Amino acid sequence: MTSSANDVDSARDELVAALQWQIDVGADEAIGDRPVDRFAIAAAKKAAAAPPQTLSAPATPTPPPAVMPTVPLASQDAVAANARTMAGSAADLAALRTSLETFDGCALKTTATNLVFGAGQVTAQVMLVGEAPGRDEDREGKPFVGVSGQLLDIMLSYVGLSRDENIYITNILPWRPPGNRQPTDAEIAACLPFLARHIALVAPKILIFLGGTSAKTLLGRREGITRLRGQWYEYNSPELENAGIAPIPAMATLHPAYLLRQPAQKRAAWRDLLSVRQRLDTLTK
Ligand code: URA
Repeated sequence: MTSSANDVDSARDELVAALQWQIDVGADEAIGDRPVDRFAIAAAKKAAAAPPQTLSAPATPTPPPAVMPTVPLASQDAVAANARTMAGSAADLAALRTSLETFDGCALKTTATNLVFGAGQVTAQVMLVGEAPGRDEDREGKPFVGVSGQLLDIMLSYVGLSRDENIYITNILPWRPPGNRQPTDAEIAACLPFLARHIALVAPKILIFLGGTSAKTLLGRREGITRLRGQWYEYNSPELENAGIAPIPAMATLHPAYLLRQPAQKRAAWRDLLSVRQRLDTLTK
């Protein structure tokens, strides 16, 4: 084969591998809530650049914006206040789930197939918080059942943790963002009171934040996960205080979906899990 045929083959292999990776992590839809008509955008740009033909030429229609509509802050506050009331009145996890099912303050509910509430042992000493359901989780209504969840299960098993025995797991958001896009601040703020109550009801002895969205949200920090990971923090919230629960030790670590893309980083995640194991052992002695 000639070198240019080889180049074409390897470029194609790289593209196929990149596509396969997208499928593996659950990116099965175009990102964005609305379809973007790129032909219309190109036509609009061309028309804007061209000199006007006649003064009465019809205007080219403007394509719809491809960005998420922003929610006014006042109405975000009202949504969060309503969420706090609804979540705060849930006496147990079953009531909290029912309350979330009736909550209309987060539009992700309308595009998701299922509510993904939580899984594992409700009496667990260790509670993990991921980011948001992906395609598989949305389909099954359970957190971390796709490829990244499988990696997570394997890693946890090496430190004696499993959702069948001694952990509980949930996410920052209970509904899948379309196309696995990054959750918006408004979506997170709307759902956060439910998560805060969720944590207070499980009352774990240790929290593990999986990935940047989880760590930044629950620690109120702005740094990225590579800076935040590997350290112990104390998670606190008005919901914990109202329930008379002391701040909970929390470890931030890398998200398993990131580890699938950057396997060399598994080493760091192992260190974090070993630190969790050691701390847990001091609790159970
Ligand atoms: N990623 C998450 O953060 N949560 C899931 O439940 C699945 C993938």
